[in-house]
Amino acid sequence: MDNLLLTIDQYKTDINNFIAPNSEAAETFRIKYLGTKGLVKELMGEMKNVTPENKRAFGQVMNEFKVFAEAKYETLKASTSKDGQASADEADLSLPADALPLGSRHPISLVRNRIVSIFQRLGFAVAEGPEIEDDWHNFTALNLPENHPARDMQDTFYINQNPDWLLRTHTSSVQVREMEKGKLPIRIICPGRVYRNETISARAHCFFHQVEGLYIAENVSFADLKQTLYFFVQEMFGKDVKIRFRPSYFPFTEPSAEMDISCLICGGTGCNVCKYTGWVEILGCGMAHPNLLDNCGIDSNKYTGFAFGMGVERITMLKYQIKDLRLFSENDVRFLKQFTAAV
Ligand code: DAH
Repeated sequence: MDNLLLTIDQYKTDINNFIAPNSEAAETFRIKYLGTKGLVKELMGEMKNVTPENKRAFGQVMNEFKVFAEAKYETLKASTSKDGQASADEADLSLPADALPLGSRHPISLVRNRIVSIFQRLGFAVAEGPEIEDDWHNFTALNLPENHPARDMQDTFYINQNPDWLLRTHTSSVQVREMEKGKLPIRIICPGRVYRNETISARAHCFFHQVEGLYIAENVSFADLKQTLYFFVQEMFGKDVKIRFRPSYFPFTEPSAEMDISCLICGGTGCNVCKYTGWVEILGCGMAHPNLLDNCGIDSNKYTGFAFGMGVERITMLKYQIKDLRLFSENDVRFLKQFTAAV
């Protein structure tokens, strides 16, 4: 019996040291130890020569040895199988590689890029600015001095008070920064993220994206504004879409207007998307207020200009008929992966 234990120990060391670089080697192991003519079977066959009082102990030792060899075989099999690491000589290198899942652009990015490219074709350059703004660029320079009631419509998140730093409520602040540089004429569009202190719902969020535009030169008129925006709408939504302007109020433009397009769903006959009016609002615009030009050091007797601002979420919702704004920021891939094609 003692002899047997010594022999078994030696076999166990051999088994431990057995290396199988591929599945053939693992099979060799199986045949050698676990096959019908293998070592385990052979040693089991010794049972008949064991004295009756040792039979039980012998059986136990052998069983344990068998389990040990089987466990090793399972490990060898797993590490050399196709699912595990296939060895170089087994791998079929001609097979195509596993496809890497490619992401797709976010619908807001797709639509923003489209808006930008339409205006670039009209000669507008992209201008960007900080999302954390000071009071001057976000409000005061835009003819929205402290305590002006129109500030109420754009409540935001303050990072610091005295001096006031805040999250910008619109990218009009970038227009101010460009005007302050003093290089005229100016023809820019300002895409970017903006923030407002709003209750989150299907139609409003505490952050969203805008593209604002500004054109300042000599003799710019409302007709230029109208034609520029008409071109944009036709490029964005198609040639059949109509536009209309409604008088409105913004402190930084005079006169100011809101622009509607004919409803894309019903074509203007009335449906629940356009609330049975046939029109949907898409942006605010107007002629740059002389106070705004003066605040930025531009001679308002010599120069005129127009400005406009639109929400990218709004355009995207109209373009793709998305009913809930929250989908844009929930990161649900089932939603996001639907937008693969350029608009
Ligand atoms: N800044 C305005 C807003 O966020 C939108 C806007 C309206 C921008 C008229 C303009 C403009 O440049 O002329 O509500």
